[in-house]
Amino acid sequence: MMNKKSIEDIQVKSKKVLVRCDFNVPLDKDGNITDENRIVGAMPTIKYLAENGAKVILCSHMGKPKGEPKSEFSLAPVAKRLSEKLGKEVVFAADDNVVGDNAKKAVAAMNDGDIVLLENTRYRAEETKNIETFSKELASLAEIFVNDAFGTAHRAHCSTVGVTEYLPAVCGYLIQKEIEFLGNAVNNPVRPLVAILGGSKVSSKISVIENLLDKVDKLIIGGGMAYTFMAAKGQEVGDSLLEKDYIDYAKEMMEKAGDKLLLPIDTVVAKEFNNDAESKVVAEGGIEAGWQGLDIGPKTIELFSDAVRNAKTVVWNGPMGVFEMPSFAKGTNAIAQVLSEIDATTVIGGGDSVAAVNQAGLGDKMSHISTGGGASLEFLEGKELPGIAALQNK
Ligand code: 3PG
Repeated sequence: MMNKKSIEDIQVKSKKVLVRCDFNVPLDKDGNITDENRIVGAMPTIKYLAENGAKVILCSHMGKPKGEPKSEFSLAPVAKRLSEKLGKEVVFAADDNVVGDNAKKAVAAMNDGDIVLLENTRYRAEETKNIETFSKELASLAEIFVNDAFGTAHRAHCSTVGVTEYLPAVCGYLIQKEIEFLGNAVNNPVRPLVAILGGSKVSSKISVIENLLDKVDKLIIGGGMAYTFMAAKGQEVGDSLLEKDYIDYAKEMMEKAGDKLLLPIDTVVAKEFNNDAESKVVAEGGIEAGWQGLDIGPKTIELFSDAVRNAKTVVWNGPMGVFEMPSFAKGTNAIAQVLSEIDATTVIGGGDSVAAVNQAGLGDKMSHISTGGGASLEFLEGKELPGIAALQNK
């Protein structure tokens, strides 16, 4: 279904290949990588290119240094981790201007199969504005461009889109895999297809709801966004998260969805937004003033789990409660547990649900964990991702 050329459709031997990865990984205060999902995801493309004799020039952004060099956003820790994982040196070209003397010398010295990593592309102010000066400099290092940064495919930047003006551009294995899993789940699913949406805001999920409603067999809504739907049903939601401006929208969606839509039927409420706060379970409509909903209740866990158990494809984006606090993580963990047990394709898209699945230790039980946060959300909204659109068609 992917109509874009991939690394297997081109000759890479002895070619200088610029590869855009998404190495925007979380670091602790000592610069240790605390989640290397994205590095693991980038491995197949890097290995293929190196094993097939390409000169592999990797690039990525990290965080938001806002167009200037800031050492806390350096990709140096990533170069170190890549070297360890690949069992061969990844030369780090530490140029504050990204394409500087270090990068040029390192590239000139490359043999087939060597790997160089450039410094954070967002050290350059042009990057996020997609200004051609920097795109041209990046392109001048290489003969071919490979985009494998699914997590950044929703950004039209120099290193994702601009550079494709100057080099033949194809996709890597990670982008292929993401599009295959997310694309099949949404557009060509084995049915029943169940989508589970959570997270705090209805406003940030409107386009996802609209895109998915016609495609799914069941749509489950939990998390903070559910309270706006409860309010739309005329229920009191106490001090829970509420987007008043979206109550009418929620009503409209409920009418449109009919019995496709499942909402919480009980709620774990607390006096404060705090793990040790006084808490209790209340039935539907029972959230009083002074209390806020922080998780789905046990009956809702059963309701949602039953709906999921019949599914053949499940897409999950957004936690069911404040899963970072153990007292309010039960709903999210229960959903992760059911997904790990069922005989279905399970696709986890989006930062928080990925963190929740990993926190529950169930990451390896899912069919696919997306490396995209914003990118997978935009994909689920049915939007074209500019970083993929810019690649050559087959
Ligand atoms: C992400 O973490 O979602 C991607 O790396 C994109 O980062 P950005 O939101 O800073 O563009």
